[in-house]
Amino acid sequence: MKKLMEYYDTLAKDYDKIYKNKNIEYMRIIEQEILNNEVKKDYLILDIGCGTGEQLDYLRDYNIVGLDISLEMAKRAKNKTGKFLFVGNAEHLPFKNKSFNCVISLFGALNHVQINRAFKEVRRILTKNGVFIFSIANVYNIGWIIRSLKKRGLIKTKRAIEHKKGDIVKYIDGKRIKVNTKFYSIKDVENILKKYNFYVKYTFGTNITNSPLDRIIYKTFLKNFGVYVGAVAIKK
Ligand SMILES: C[S@@+](CC[C@H](N)C(=O)[O-])C[C@H]1O[C@@H](n2cnc3c(N)ncnc32)[C@H](O)[C@@H]1O
Repeated sequence: MKKLMEYYDTLAKDYDKIYKNKNIEYMRIIEQEILNNEVKKDYLILDIGCGTGEQLDYLRDYNIVGLDISLEMAKRAKNKTGKFLFVGNAEHLPFKNKSFNCVISLFGALNHVQINRAFKEVRRILTKNGVFIFSIANVYNIGWIIRSLKKRGLIKTKRAIEHKKGDIVKYIDGKRIKVNTKFYSIKDVENILKKYNFYVKYTFGTNITNSPLDRIIYKTFLKNFGVYVGAVAIKK
């Protein structure tokens, strides 16, 4: 956990510079479309892994609070949005049972957790019929697979896909920072939701083509190949 916190604390300063770019433009558009469709005005919402506040800012007119494992991320989210912020871990949420009508976690916080613990916690803090909206790195990210086939060849790429684990490496002010990440498929997402007794309203993919086409295909079979995969699920 210490390494994870250090990684995101170091990244926080440059996060908006690094991630406000055209490469994820359509991921953000799909995320916003899903939030527009699924989030209701009377919900109390928790944003797990809020980072510098991308979704808190987008949902600024809603009752929403943020939680992040990185103090540096949380400080920036607080300054940007003025929303209430918690520093904490998705695996041990500091809230009473049935506290929220909706939990969102978009673009990556859940890649770094023991997924069973996090889903159990989300289930615990949601009200009955509460909505869980999340996205997570996709093991069948087609762009990555093609690049890897060219760089590493078939056998190493196949092994990496089977392994479902990897590292993200970044250089911030000349310092090399690294974090472990896990990858999931749509099938994995469905299975884990079922295990924790969620009804899967739909699954989706983001950044499939990073073009306007994504708005048409994000819930189709092609969702299996996005950079991220996710779901809208309801606590039964
Ligand atoms: C890639 S950022 C995404 C931030 C934001 N949701 C967005 O869309 O830009 C992932 C965030 O998850 C946070 N995070 C990672 N592991 C976490 C954990 N176990 N509990 C809470 N937050 C975590 C990181 O500190 C980071 O701010």
